[in-house]
Amino acid sequence: MKLMKQDQQFALDFPRDEIEARHTTHSGGKGEPFHDWYPYLEGFSSEFVKHMLTQYIPGARRIIEPFAGTGTAPIVLAGLGIDCGYCEVNPAMRLVISAKMAVGNLPRTERIAVRSRLLALSDSIAEKIAAAPSDELLLKDYQNNFGSSIFFDEGTFRSLLAIRTVNDQIGKQDPLLGMLLSVSVMSKIVICSLLKRAGDVRYKTEKELAKGIPDLVAEVGKHLIVIANDCLASPDLVGSIKLLTSNAKELGMCPDFLADGVITSPPYLNGTNYFRNTKLELWYGRFLGEKNALRSFRNLAITSGINDVAKTQGRVHVNETVRELVAKLEENAYDMRIPRMVAGYFEDMQVVLKSLSKNCRLNGVLCIDIGDSRYGGVHVPTHEILAAIGEDIGLQHVETIRLRTRTSKDQTKLSQSLIVLRKIKN
Ligand SMILES: C[S@@+](CC[C@H](N)C(=O)[O-])C[C@H]1O[C@@H](n2cnc3c(N)ncnc32)[C@H](O)[C@@H]1O
Repeated sequence: MKLMKQDQQFALDFPRDEIEARHTTHSGGKGEPFHDWYPYLEGFSSEFVKHMLTQYIPGARRIIEPFAGTGTAPIVLAGLGIDCGYCEVNPAMRLVISAKMAVGNLPRTERIAVRSRLLALSDSIAEKIAAAPSDELLLKDYQNNFGSSIFFDEGTFRSLLAIRTVNDQIGKQDPLLGMLLSVSVMSKIVICSLLKRAGDVRYKTEKELAKGIPDLVAEVGKHLIVIANDCLASPDLVGSIKLLTSNAKELGMCPDFLADGVITSPPYLNGTNYFRNTKLELWYGRFLGEKNALRSFRNLAITSGINDVAKTQGRVHVNETVRELVAKLEENAYDMRIPRMVAGYFEDMQVVLKSLSKNCRLNGVLCIDIGDSRYGGVHVPTHEILAAIGEDIGLQHVETIRLRTRTSKDQTKLSQSLIVLRKIKN
């Protein structure tokens, strides 16, 4: 296994068309059909998916997206007539994907009818909520999962418990409308709470609270109109979209998908806790029915945050580079879970890379968008190590391209890179 120096690696940059940096982030897709249904900071844009396809996997008929998030890749690919198999471990995100698929698969005449029903619901939602009783089960789930933590002001909390009642009533008569209402509430739940998504979810500061908290019912009403308009504006999903398995770590146990390639952005090794950051959405979606549900979800995810590290994790080092890096981190880390998290991340990603390789045809191309990290002054070149792990398991490292520069918490410069690997033997 050989690691290229970062400078040498980036000297290979820009062999083909460049992609604008903004398209490598969620905001690059703003205003596009489907894109604004749920604001996912970790997402990429439709342009990014199209760029990967035309530059690296032209003519593809089947693609895998093992970390689908809000479904950007599957939805864009299906719109282009390409079949996509996906994984996504977070059930709240799977709901967003299902809602997009449900609309995208409707014939045009039915889309017009759904649009009318959404607009009518937007007009009547405030009245319906005012008349609805609270959902007691949702209240109990809140208490079981969040104890005495207060994430909403009183009025918003009351509205949420009532919207859930309305949501279930609508869902019984009109499952699609119920699903679209759930997505609307999930999309607005954080901005209408006492929390804020700023990388991770945290409490709003006094200054932020002073600006006022948007009214949940009005925001949901407006969002229903956004979705209504997308019913007409969004493309037909000509290709098929299939959930291969929710957990990408289990992809190796699925029947071979024989994909022409992979387009994905795995979790970054930077501490983002996807479940903690979507806890309000998961709660509203009734995905936190069990006590400790958040912890159980976290155990399924790729180890990428410090709280993901279970006692038994991070003891395996997938190669010598990881072993050396972990030793360096052990000397410098302010928290001993960090080296184990790093080891656990590469262990998990090796499992996923092997399964992706197995699920691709010969010459299949894997396009992986990833960022590096720094802990206690130690740089973790995630892009280099993943490329090397790819080589360890028999993939060819075609190239790595720097997509944009990022700034770490300690203000040092990090990068976002695209790794391109090819399956050269069965
Ligand atoms: C960077 S985000 C992908 C965002 C996506 N590209 C989009 O545009 O919405 C990574 C995703 O991986 C998911 N994830 C983490 N561990 C996973 C696992 N073991 N299996 C499947 N998905 C996982 C997270 O829930 C998160 O949604």
